[in-house]
Amino acid sequence: MSRLLKYAGIVLGAIILLLVGGVAGLYAWSGAEIARRAPLPTHPFVAPTDSAAVARGEHITRALTKCGDCHGEDFGGGVVVDDPAIGFIYAPNLTKGRGGIGGQLTDAAFEAAVRHGLGRDGHRILIMPSKEYQFLSDEDLGMVVAFLHSVAPVDREAPPLRVGPLARGLYAAGILPLFPGDAVTHSDGVVASVPVDSTAEYGRYLGSVGCAGCHGTTYGGGAIPGGPPEWPKPANLTPTGIGHYTFEGFNRALHEGVRPDGTKLDPFMPVRATKLMTDVEIVAVWKYLRTLPPKEFGAR
Ligand code: HEC
Ligand code: HEC
Repeated sequence: MSRLLKYAGIVLGAIILLLVGGVAGLYAWSGAEIARRAPLPTHPFVAPTDSAAVARGEHITRALTKCGDCHGEDFGGGVVVDDPAIGFIYAPNLTKGRGGIGGQLTDAAFEAAVRHGLGRDGHRILIMPSKEYQFLSDEDLGMVVAFLHSVAPVDREAPPLRVGPLARGLYAAGILPLFPGDAVTHSDGVVASVPVDSTAEYGRYLGSVGCAGCHGTTYGGGAIPGGPPEWPKPANLTPTGIGHYTFEGFNRALHEGVRPDGTKLDPFMPVRATKLMTDVEIVAVWKYLRTLPPKEFGAR
């Protein structure tokens, strides 16, 4: 009996050791991954400075790329995720106020962050959707940068980030893309500019930089990978999901946050941004979504 107990004790001890070792190993490995630096792009990037670019940049930033969704509507920084298991992810203050990094952000640093997912020191930026932003044209990104250089300074310190155990585990398992910039195919080349027109082609572009990050690259919707469970699941925007919509219903959903049946959309769907979209932009996205093959809900 006592030998059996002793044996059980040894097995239990071994299991605990393995678990502790596993967690310590996971933390050591993922800690090195978080600290890892990647080479910064060497190509030049120069943003315009004229007032027309600043004004157009404000529209692109607020209505299309929605940088303020994470960095705050005043761009002074904001909490993206605050969850014990996933971590504390904070988007920094992009202004030139106290606690802001605006004074250190050159045009090239903005380009590296947005289209490559790399910080000024080469660290791989957590969570920010560079996989989608990589498609931003030089012209549009230039105007976003022109606008962000011009925003009023905000004094707000950015608290330190923390990546939680679940996020580390999901990243190790290959489920959570912690560093979206890793999926940037730097070889694709970037277009200089995109013609603004109410065409499905322009809609494809607007969708790729403004909707696909949440609704998925196939627009099948479903839970955002690694998002806390309380985040609502983005809808299926393919014909299986919104095939019953008319254009008027779509326009109303984007402007008022209401479905055709009158039910309200969860504010996680950024209607505060989509309601600023122009008619040309909304028609273009609508036309593009109509060309999509039907997908099952969750087929992101
Ligand atoms: C989904 C949330 C999210 C959105 C949307 C977002 N960001 Fe970020 N951004 C972050 C987070 C989080 C960080 C800091 C993470 C880190 O340092 O690992 C960050 C960091 C940055 C940085 C700092 C880079 C550095 O040198 O450290 C810049 C610049 C930046 N974002 C610009 C933008 C711009 C411009 C847009 C819109 C085109 C944008 N972000 C949209 C979440 C977001
Ligand atoms: C920050 C994430 C996010 C972005 C970006 C986003 N959406 Fe959504 N969207 C959601 C979520 C979440 C829902 C589901 C809301 C709910 O369940 O109440 C949703 C719902 C919708 C619906 C309602 C579908 C239904 O159930 O009837 C439409 C239409 C829609 N989105 C269109 C768009 C378009 C078009 C874009 C880009 C211009 C876009 N969304 C960008 C998160 C997002």
